[in-house]
Amino acid sequence: MKDLLSLKDVNKEFVLSVIEKAIDMKQNPDNYRTALKDKTLLMIFEKPSLRTRVSFEVGMTQMGGHAIYYDVSTSPLGRKETIEDTAKTSERYVEIIMARLNHFSDCKALAENAKIPVIDALSDMNHPCQILCDLQTIKEKFGKLNGLTLAYVGDSENNVTYSLMHGCAHVGINVRVGCPNDPEHKPKQEIVEEAKLIAAQNGSTIEVFHNAADAVKDADVVYTDSWMSYHIPVDQMEVRKQKLMPYQVTSALMQLAKPTAVFMNCLPAMRGLEQTAEVVDGPQSIVFDQAENRLHVQKAIMLKLLGMF
Ligand code: CP
Ligand code: NVA
Repeated sequence: MKDLLSLKDVNKEFVLSVIEKAIDMKQNPDNYRTALKDKTLLMIFEKPSLRTRVSFEVGMTQMGGHAIYYDVSTSPLGRKETIEDTAKTSERYVEIIMARLNHFSDCKALAENAKIPVIDALSDMNHPCQILCDLQTIKEKFGKLNGLTLAYVGDSENNVTYSLMHGCAHVGINVRVGCPNDPEHKPKQEIVEEAKLIAAQNGSTIEVFHNAADAVKDADVVYTDSWMSYHIPVDQMEVRKQKLMPYQVTSALMQLAKPTAVFMNCLPAMRGLEQTAEVVDGPQSIVFDQAENRLHVQKAIMLKLLGMF
């Protein structure tokens, strides 16, 4: 596989091998100090980032390579330069590209026109690097993946929800989504169906509830994401807050999950919106372990796509 675009297109072996490599790289970073010596990663950003930008850049440094931050707002892309020409030019300079673009179709076009690997570092439809890191984090906490239940509550017409459904389906994690019954906030049916097909092959289920308590009951992992994703205009805050408040992760909601349950959020998190401060800063929260693992998994993804394991 040349690129990492959607987790729909990978298989169980890909997911498990990346997680295993990420865990090894976390434990034995010295074994990889020169793994990407003299290699360059181009990081194209159309949206903001803390974790993705810094972890990819640090990851390249730690493996002896180099990363270039390329901000679309200061580039000719979209005005004087096409995606196709950007791909065909960049591949003459660098060995790998990661792109955080507004539209998945643009990321796909970049990948189709570049001979080198392209990684979707968040688009409207996917966030594969995040979910591979989430699965690494869950594996570290529970010692297994298969058979666990993850409840995702909140805004669910959402890149993180889609990649979670695909990624969990590959490794046999049951997914229970809790969201308003409203096209603006519920997952697109075609993605639910795709994920169900993958899940069925791995003995797990994908279910959508329109009640947070039903989704969270007896879950091992409770996961939420921003109600104000990067592309949502600020003036929609109040209306989204009203619609999504029944899905806020509170301590009372966490009580419905298993006593051993963990709380996850890909971050950035807004206290008082998708979860209370008590939850995200509380003892069940593993959000910073999750954030740390972006570094390890991204390093593993790059080695995988460059054919190094
Ligand atoms: N979780 C995540 O992708 O964070 P950033 O937007 O900071 O990269
Ligand atoms: N759904 C969020 C994820 C941020 C990492 C967004 O698109 O902004």
